[in-house]
Amino acid sequence: MHSTNSAYKRFDKINGNFKGKDIVSLDQFSQKDIKILFDEVPKMREIALNARPSKIIEGKIVVLLFYEPSSRTFGSFSTAVKQIGGQTVEILNPQDFSSIVKGETFEDTIRVFEAYSDAIILRHPQVGSASKAAQIAKLVPVINAGDGVGEHPTQTLLDLYTIYEKFGRLDNLTVLFAGDMLNGRTVHSLIKGLALYPKNTLYLLSLPSLKLSRKEYSNFLNLGIKLVELESVNDIPKNADVWYWTRIQKERFKSIKDYEKTSNKFVVNQEFLDTYASKNTILMHPLPRVGEITPKVDDDPRAVYLKSQIRNGTYVRMALLTKVLE
Ligand code: CP
Repeated sequence: MHSTNSAYKRFDKINGNFKGKDIVSLDQFSQKDIKILFDEVPKMREIALNARPSKIIEGKIVVLLFYEPSSRTFGSFSTAVKQIGGQTVEILNPQDFSSIVKGETFEDTIRVFEAYSDAIILRHPQVGSASKAAQIAKLVPVINAGDGVGEHPTQTLLDLYTIYEKFGRLDNLTVLFAGDMLNGRTVHSLIKGLALYPKNTLYLLSLPSLKLSRKEYSNFLNLGIKLVELESVNDIPKNADVWYWTRIQKERFKSIKDYEKTSNKFVVNQEFLDTYASKNTILMHPLPRVGEITPKVDDDPRAVYLKSQIRNGTYVRMALLTKVLE
């Protein structure tokens, strides 16, 4: 089995069949799998927008176990489960509010929630935690909702869908990433996602200290994707189809001082967008943003981060849950 990272090595490829599978890494996906999922999305949008009753996963219970803060991933998964007729058990900050406080282990916590549910959606600060949970929970699928600086596969599925919706293709694209390449799990998964398609060129703009680790850089190159690292805005390609701006991941720094040395070096305001982007570029951001895109840019038609990118999160997660739990 192909894998770029030992933390995700053990997991089954989707291979056209999502049913009961853990969703841990983009390593599990092929172009065909992504197409199967995307074909479901218009139906999911229809259900969500028209308040059409749906009983696709009626009777199923999905546990949302979130050890780290979240607005979008938590909110859209919670919404998605309900839109397709299931119910949720929502455990936020289990390290403060569950029996973990009394000393219960991660392993036992996963076993307990496995017993109550049909699927576990896990966000956790440790790389490899979803992978570990999936090995513990033998009876229900585990979906990775972000494992530390590792991966965020469902964010990538919605990001790819947003790009596909705009351009009608996922190949032959020029994509500029900016911000935190080192710690950004959304960046890591999206690079793997774009590497599934031919002729994509990815430019990675960051401070030297926030470049991809050399190990990760070489793992990604081995996937056959073209990566160009940049340190200056003057080197931004003029023809980029997609800008993928990201937050510097403050919570991954050892000290606030170290973080402050890095924050808001590449800020998109209207002038910056007009100078360096093309008229057809789309501006994406997984959010939250903390100053790296000014609010005035929100109304620019190229800005999709508070529009389709957010909404697609619910529709794509509905499609994924439908396929995994059908
Ligand atoms: N994009 C994303 O993962 O946002 P949240 O941390 O709010 O879920």
